[in-house]
Amino acid sequence: MALLPKDPHGCPFLILAPMEGVGDRCFRRAMASVGGFDEAVTDFLRVPTNAHVQSLARVYEAEETAPIPLAAQLMGSDIELMAAMAREVEKRGAPRIDLNCGCPSNTVTGRGAGSSLLKDPDLLNQVAAAMVKAVCVPVTIKMRSGYDDTSRFRENLLAAQESGASYITLHPRTKADGYGPPARWDLIAEAKSFLKIPLVGNGDILSVEDALRMLKTTGCDALMIGRGSVINPFIFHQIRAHFAKTSYQPKWEDLLRYLQVYIAEIPAESSERLKINKMKQLMGFLFKGNPLLVERRQTMLTTTYTDFKSFMDFALPLLKEGWE
Ligand SMILES: Cc1cc2nc3c(=O)[nH]c(=O)nc-3n(C[C@H](O)[C@H](O)[C@H](O)COP(=O)(O)O)c2cc1C
Repeated sequence: MALLPKDPHGCPFLILAPMEGVGDRCFRRAMASVGGFDEAVTDFLRVPTNAHVQSLARVYEAEETAPIPLAAQLMGSDIELMAAMAREVEKRGAPRIDLNCGCPSNTVTGRGAGSSLLKDPDLLNQVAAAMVKAVCVPVTIKMRSGYDDTSRFRENLLAAQESGASYITLHPRTKADGYGPPARWDLIAEAKSFLKIPLVGNGDILSVEDALRMLKTTGCDALMIGRGSVINPFIFHQIRAHFAKTSYQPKWEDLLRYLQVYIAEIPAESSERLKINKMKQLMGFLFKGNPLLVERRQTMLTTTYTDFKSFMDFALPLLKEGWE
């Protein structure tokens, strides 16, 4: 079976992006309750040099987004440990294992992992090849376009391909770019022109039109969406509906159900402050969804609330008005 199959209407394979801090278990479970995408990916599981892989792997739970498969993303640069960790998450049911070559966080790059692998294509290749050899499930690589610049762009992509990876996901910004400048979709088209393995396009897809434009201008094989799905949890259904020549108009009740699943997943022992901050973060994205809400976003974020209920009593009616 093709690795990134299209749906019967020709819609490309759609993947929910890994997003540490935002796209946690609460978000993934809530998104899985909405559906519309073909696969999700965990945010990175850091594999430090002193890792005890059996204990580390316990945070991966294959059933979390069931029936939608959940790939496990690993971040590290120790060749043997990364292979061992790949074996552990495979044992726990991971249908695919992804190597992170993009995380810009300094605590990570300091140890030579994440985007730092883009400074050393040989190491990138060796880590990925060891993972490929260690497991039977597909190993894939998610990378930025470079570290400081794109001078090793081609070299990194070829090193990734030669490792035996099944496909590559490209977020076309360098580590130095952070999230500032627009994603360079021209680099996705360039990568597509010389890679033999499939390429997943990622970066700045916020609407159905963006998704179609990325497909058309880059020729990529599948799409991954991150922030666009936090702003609009129904974006995958809407892309799919476009290909099926139907429309997908979510109702307020659909959004409410999504929020209910999200809230139900917040650990019961969390403090009121933590719950408020977590919900503020999610609402902060949802309020970017339309102009009326954008105006009210700052007020929603900066008002002080005594408890979680008072936050929801304030934010929900605003969201409802904007949504409807
Ligand atoms: C808050 C946040 C956390 C992220 N964490 C990860 C991560 O754990 N692993 C990873 O490969 N990419 C991570 N990314 C990058 C996204 O997966 C994606 O490549 C990037 O946001 C561009 O796609 P988008 O414009 O659709 O959001 C993160 C992005 C954000 C905004």
